[in-house]
Amino acid sequence: MTPSIQRIQLDPGAEALLSANHLPISDLQGSSIVVLFGFIEDTRLQGIVGLEMYGAAALLRSLAVSDSGRGNGLGTALVAHAEQYAAQQGADTVYLLTTTAAGFFERLGYSHVARDAAPASIAATRQFSALCPSSSAFMAKLLASPPLESGPLRGPA
Ligand SMILES: CC(C)(COP(=O)(O)OP(=O)(O)OC[C@H]1O[C@@H](n2cnc3c(N)ncnc32)[C@H](O)[C@@H]1OP(=O)(O)O)[C@@H](O)C(=O)NCCC(=O)NCCS
Repeated sequence: MTPSIQRIQLDPGAEALLSANHLPISDLQGSSIVVLFGFIEDTRLQGIVGLEMYGAAALLRSLAVSDSGRGNGLGTALVAHAEQYAAQQGADTVYLLTTTAAGFFERLGYSHVARDAAPASIAATRQFSALCPSSSAFMAKLLASPPLESGPLRGPA
């Protein structure tokens, strides 16, 4: 079954899940640019993912699944949800930085990209410029274009 992932706010539960996974929260507090999604089971936040939207470019961040929730497809579902949201908002590429999960993202279609190829909007994020070490993998995935609007098929005149 596809987990029901919903928009969430940064609250103590979200901060605890991110902190437990050594993911930055200082630039989330009071941020109006970051959108968070989570999967809540029995009132407990089991997984979280965040997105920063910069027009055609989106930064995926703050991905974490609780220890007890891992290995059930939740991480994959959170990434897919974030990608779908990014595409709906007009993004064509999702970028991310990771020190821990490059192999996980490779399996989801992300490729390694040189840091100096980052769009200016992504390079200016605190994740990119300050919070993630320069040894982090920088990765990107081109999103599939939404289908073109088309009318009903017509036969020959
Ligand atoms: C990465 C993470 C979100 C995956 O969550 P999950 O719910 O277990 O993911 P899924 O169930 O969708 O996928 C599990 C698969 O990914 C693999 N995987 C999980 N973490 C991985 C990693 N760090 N590197 C490579 N592969 C990984 C698992 O081995 C498993 O493989 P299998 O299907 O062959 O058994 C989770 O391990 C986590 O929260 N890690 C700590 C935080 C983190 O590193 N976040 C990324 C920061 S950008």
